Amino acid sequence: MSVSYNELLDATIQHLETLKSRGARSVAVSAETLRTLSQPPPKVARPIDVSSTRTAIPPLPAGEGRGEGESRVPTGSKIQPANLPLGIQTETRTPKSATEKAAAFAALRERVMVCVKCANLASSRKNVVFGVGNIDAQLMFVGEAPGADEDAQGEPFVGRAGELLTKIIQAMGLQRSDVYIANILKCRPDTPGQSSGNRKPTPEEMAVCVPYLHEQIDLIQPRVLVALGATAIEGLLGKTLGIMKLRGNWKTYRGTPLMPTFHPAYLLRNQAMTEKRKVWEDMLSVMEKLEMPVSEKQKNYFTRGS
Ligand code: URA
Repeated sequence: MSVSYNELLDATIQHLETLKSRGARSVAVSAETLRTLSQPPPKVARPIDVSSTRTAIPPLPAGEGRGEGESRVPTGSKIQPANLPLGIQTETRTPKSATEKAAAFAALRERVMVCVKCANLASSRKNVVFGVGNIDAQLMFVGEAPGADEDAQGEPFVGRAGELLTKIIQAMGLQRSDVYIANILKCRPDTPGQSSGNRKPTPEEMAVCVPYLHEQIDLIQPRVLVALGATAIEGLLGKTLGIMKLRGNWKTYRGTPLMPTFHPAYLLRNQAMTEKRKVWEDMLSVMEKLEMPVSEKQKNYFTRGS
């Protein structure tokens, strides 16, 4: 990227931050300028030195079977055109070196961090919430949109729902840093005139933002996706059945197995053991798909008497 481009970008961002700190909530920008700002920056190859390796999801211990009729996922996921929501183009997944992949991910991040495609969200947000975790993860969780805590910290799932998601990940024997976590929307949906509360993303906001998520998935190439709640499913698969019907049933997102499950916020609202058990059963299916070992204790979480 040229120095002058970066300098211009920095100056623009600094100017906007200054206006925002003085209380400005919007600026007059021509449609032409908005269009230009939303274009990807000029490309210049920039090597990035990384030495990350693919997450070690423990392999199945030798000799331990998994029952009949199982479907195993080959390590190198293949892409098939499937269930593509309108407007999403298929892209051939060409293998990238670790360096190329990290550079592509960093370039994507740079674009997303300065996105102003939704003027209302760009002016109300504190931070863009790009995503967090291991870009070589085999397991990726997709949520709806940042809430107030995520907006403040610039990281997905750090509020109460996030704490529960972290517990779920840990119960699977993993850490947040083993997986990748992102949302359909990278900005917090604004709630003008309200000092608190969240709102669901509009279909227009989802259509604008979801291509970034598709790019993240294309780069990470997880072996399994988990969609947390109805909005995540809608963003990935388009309009489909409700979450109550979908959860627990494997779907496919461009060749990658996708498990729809309840959003952790739903579990916070509905504390019934039966609902927790449903989400846990979905996670057991995910572990099985990833050929992770499952202990007796894990199998019995949230069953009666445990
Ligand atoms: N809910 C979401 O869907 N995503 C977050 O990042 C936080 C809460």
